[in-house]
Amino acid sequence: MGDMTSDRPRVLSGIQPTADSFHLGNYLGAVRQWVALQETHDAFYCVVDLHAITIQPHDPALLRQRTRVAAAQLLGAGLDPDNCTLFVQSHVPQHAELAWVMECMAGYGEAARMTQFKDRVARYGTDKIGVGVFTYPILQVADILLYQANQVPVGEDQRQHVELTRDLAQRFNSRFGETFVVPEPFIIKETAKIVDLQDPTAKMSKSAESQAGVVDVLDNPASIEKKLKRAVTDAETEIRFDEVNKPGVSNLLTIASTLSGTAVADLEASYAGKGYGALKTDVAEIVVNYLTPIRERTEKWLADEDTLDKVLSAGAVRAREVAEQTLVAAYDAVGFLPGPR
Ligand code: TYM
Repeated sequence: MGDMTSDRPRVLSGIQPTADSFHLGNYLGAVRQWVALQETHDAFYCVVDLHAITIQPHDPALLRQRTRVAAAQLLGAGLDPDNCTLFVQSHVPQHAELAWVMECMAGYGEAARMTQFKDRVARYGTDKIGVGVFTYPILQVADILLYQANQVPVGEDQRQHVELTRDLAQRFNSRFGETFVVPEPFIIKETAKIVDLQDPTAKMSKSAESQAGVVDVLDNPASIEKKLKRAVTDAETEIRFDEVNKPGVSNLLTIASTLSGTAVADLEASYAGKGYGALKTDVAEIVVNYLTPIRERTEKWLADEDTLDKVLSAGAVRAREVAEQTLVAAYDAVGFLPGPR
């Protein structure tokens, strides 16, 4: 329960409110693990609205709406506010405060080597992106270190940011004394990279040019079915897990296996002699059946904004208690005078 006296290991993770819905990659790569880990860990999860304004210009009304939609989806997916601490990043001022200190610990070249940053530079050029895109991973470092997280459940694309967190935590600890827990990434191999249904060489992503290969958690059943039935496969006919030669089919098997709880080998056996059409129809049904209750619960939360906002406020109060302790220790370690807070 976000309880500071808890002796369970800590987890912290975050998700951006930059789309009208999470997609299946977010769900399978991260959110599903968040729901499971709240049972065994002292879990802190945040909707990272500070990160969401790094892409400019942004629409304030849309950000407000998407922040609530993100929180509602996390609750709809099964986060229990009595069993984890769910909060909005901007409600906890310590994130921005620690981020500054950690920016001063980071090397310029070290930050410039972050793959996601380099991709944005390659795509838009340095004149079209803000400084926030550059410092973004260090704000993420602060998110993690403030909660003394032992583990960070994320998809493969966030591994490098967790590695940066480890490096900066170790650097800080060795310069100024043990202050931060050095976290480990918590990445489930099978679902670490869900790929785009139309381009199985690319990860499923909200910034994909076409949404035809991106299944949204809040999509209606007809749209989910359409996207899955049009999924790109390969020129063979055999249903076999082989990520190198058959990335499209393997992705469908991963999705079916994870959501149905059936081992991939059992799925392969059950589809012997059957075609891709049968697999796609079944995966569509599995996904629709799995996502429908999540969408319905999300809609219920969204219909009661007052209750949703209360859950987020209570989460922020709990998060601040932990974050403040860490921030005060870090400020003291670097030599800032104690003052009123
Ligand atoms: P974001 O919002 O882009 O994605 C949220 C989570 O979804 C995972 N993910 C995927 N996993 C598997 N397959 C995919 N195709 C796929 N696409 C996305 C991401 O790895 C992530 O776990 N920088 C982070 C948010 C963040 C954060 C943090 C995470 C901010 N502070 C602190 C952990 C700890 C991001 O942009 O995630």
